[in-house]
Amino acid sequence: MNMLSQQSGDDRPIGMFDSGFGGLSVARALIDLAPNENLVYVGDTGRYPYGPRPLSEVRDYSLQIAEWLITEIGVKLIVVACNTASAAALDLLQSKVDVPVVGVIEPGARAILKATKSGKVGVIGTVGTISSGAYQKKVADLSNEVNLSCAACPGFVEFVERGETESEQLTVLAERLLAPLKEAEIDALLLGCTHYPFLSRTILDVMGRNVVLVSSADETAFEVREMLDSSGLATTRDGVGSWTFYSSGDTKWFHDVGSMLFGEDLGEVIPVSWDGNSVSSE
Ligand code: DGL
Repeated sequence: MNMLSQQSGDDRPIGMFDSGFGGLSVARALIDLAPNENLVYVGDTGRYPYGPRPLSEVRDYSLQIAEWLITEIGVKLIVVACNTASAAALDLLQSKVDVPVVGVIEPGARAILKATKSGKVGVIGTVGTISSGAYQKKVADLSNEVNLSCAACPGFVEFVERGETESEQLTVLAERLLAPLKEAEIDALLLGCTHYPFLSRTILDVMGRNVVLVSSADETAFEVREMLDSSGLATTRDGVGSWTFYSSGDTKWFHDVGSMLFGEDLGEVIPVSWDGNSVSSE
């Protein structure tokens, strides 16, 4: 541990990104845990959803945003607040960029193992995340005593992006998509997509209250706080930090739906535009 830098603190912002609104569940958790940090969030709503895209494409987008956060914003750490992008690009980002990069998959996998009593656990995520095998591999690396059932939940993200977090149509879809996990009699379910915590009431209703829901968003926020504290990267600033939100899509939409999901006014949402391989704020 670098005691000198820990004493002086590091006031540079934390960078965070997601395909859209889902990462706001991670931002919310991190702001609650480390309110004095500055945060810069990019919601790539101009190219959402990431879930159905080829992983190679998600990898390119992720690298582009991470490089922009470093060169244009000067962040001290990057949080990949998206399971699909973590599954596709975490290793690449960790090898290519020169600030620490935290993903959501490992914290989530560790938490689901702690939460289960029966050893029968489930993970839900986008098609990209589930078909990448990232959770299946991470859980197997951490334990050979659990029985993991996975289900992709296409459609869930679109409900969140519409700001529709409870409705009859959502319940009907959830009943269909979650049926295999109910049959598997799991006792803990990991929300392996950062959009899904916004749907947790419906998901819990469908799964039954004896199933524990674990959010990769919360677990990741805890991991980031620990990393800040142990690495000397935590700020020593007193008072509340600033939070800045960028969107590559319709900024009014991002502001309105994002504020509703975030539970607080996001303030001005700044547009970013993608130009070939580069991105710039306008
Ligand atoms: N929030 C993203 C995740 O955690 C996915 C949303 C999308 O499909 O764009 O996987």
